Amino acid sequence: MIVNTLKGCLLFVRIGAMSNNDVLLAVQALKRGELVAFPTETVYGLGADATNKNALNRLYTVKGRPQSHPVIVHLASFEHISKWASYVPEEALILARAFCPGPLTFILKRSGCVLNEVTGGQDTVGLRIPAHPLALELLEAFGGGIAAPSANKFGKVSTTTADDVKLELGNEVSVVLDGGACPVGIESTIIDLSSSRIKVLRPGMIFREQIEEVLGFNLDEHELKIPPAYSTQTKSTDASQTTQTSSIRVPGGLPSHYAPNTPLKLLEGHEIPGFICDLDLNSHTVGLLHYSNIDKIFNNKSNRYPIDRIISRRADSDPHKFAQDLYSNIRFLDKSKSQLIIVETPPKTSAWTAILDRLYRASAKTN
Ligand code: TXA
Ligand code: MG
Repeated sequence: MIVNTLKGCLLFVRIGAMSNNDVLLAVQALKRGELVAFPTETVYGLGADATNKNALNRLYTVKGRPQSHPVIVHLASFEHISKWASYVPEEALILARAFCPGPLTFILKRSGCVLNEVTGGQDTVGLRIPAHPLALELLEAFGGGIAAPSANKFGKVSTTTADDVKLELGNEVSVVLDGGACPVGIESTIIDLSSSRIKVLRPGMIFREQIEEVLGFNLDEHELKIPPAYSTQTKSTDASQTTQTSSIRVPGGLPSHYAPNTPLKLLEGHEIPGFICDLDLNSHTVGLLHYSNIDKIFNNKSNRYPIDRIISRRADSDPHKFAQDLYSNIRFLDKSKSQLIIVETPPKTSAWTAILDRLYRASAKTN
């Protein structure tokens, strides 16, 4: 764990195993309106008290994120959801029974107590119960909602280890809770249950097919019955809190997101050797993330591949394991200061949908 002093002077306290005391320090920091980073099963979160306007404003500043983009509120259990959502459809309860705690975020009509700083002024709120034991311990000890985007600068690669959080945001957070590497590795599936059409806004490792199986219907062929009182604007108890029903803003929905500093290019496995041969590398290197056997070609000394210029990482061919290591692999290759990172395009099957989504966005400026 790292504890920062208030003046920004770093005080490093490294503790191997997490203790109640570390969680207590994080709770105290949250209550003072400071920011803490904590592990979830998906990626690390940058947390602030979801009821503290100043803390939320600081969250946006540190993250470098436009104020109009909403953040997810993390809760200790689904029972707390009625405080934050004005209407919870039966379908949300069914999904919660199947997947909570877990990597699924619910977009629901917000209740009157939810701040505009959380929702970006929209009439909906994102709610999630994370499955990581340390996140749950923190949430239970805090006793309220923790607003938390992924613990990275806006548009950049999410963090999946405490060390990566420290590199990315170390000076700007009061406490970093270290819960090891995140087991899922990419951000939660976001499902919108706030209007008559249920939609997956962001694919994740809970797949659309799993959601449809649990609900017992195809999302495209179902009308959600939202009582008229909840289907338009939500009244806020705070007169200054006007809400809008404008189109949903999902930063992960921007064409370029999750991007390393080094340009990232997606190529099919068979295209990679020829592409690298044609690169004008001079003294530069190229980073390569692949899951098939293409490195065998590079190891064949009789060919003309610049083996000593290729910094490669072999990823697992199982999508869950590939996702688990994806961001740490990309961060590793980014640090190699190569002129380009090439990623072998994963199969275009449903198990890879979320991974492909992240890779397409990470490569949007290059491909
Ligand atoms: O796995 C995750 O979801 C991680 C961990 C930390 O929980 N969090 C995360 O947060 O990925 P963030 O802020 O990086 O991405 C959350 C996404 C954003 O694209 C945001 O626009 C969307 O959720 N979101 C939040 N509230 C929303 C709302 N009311 N309506 C539509 N989208 C919303
Ligand atoms: Mg994010």
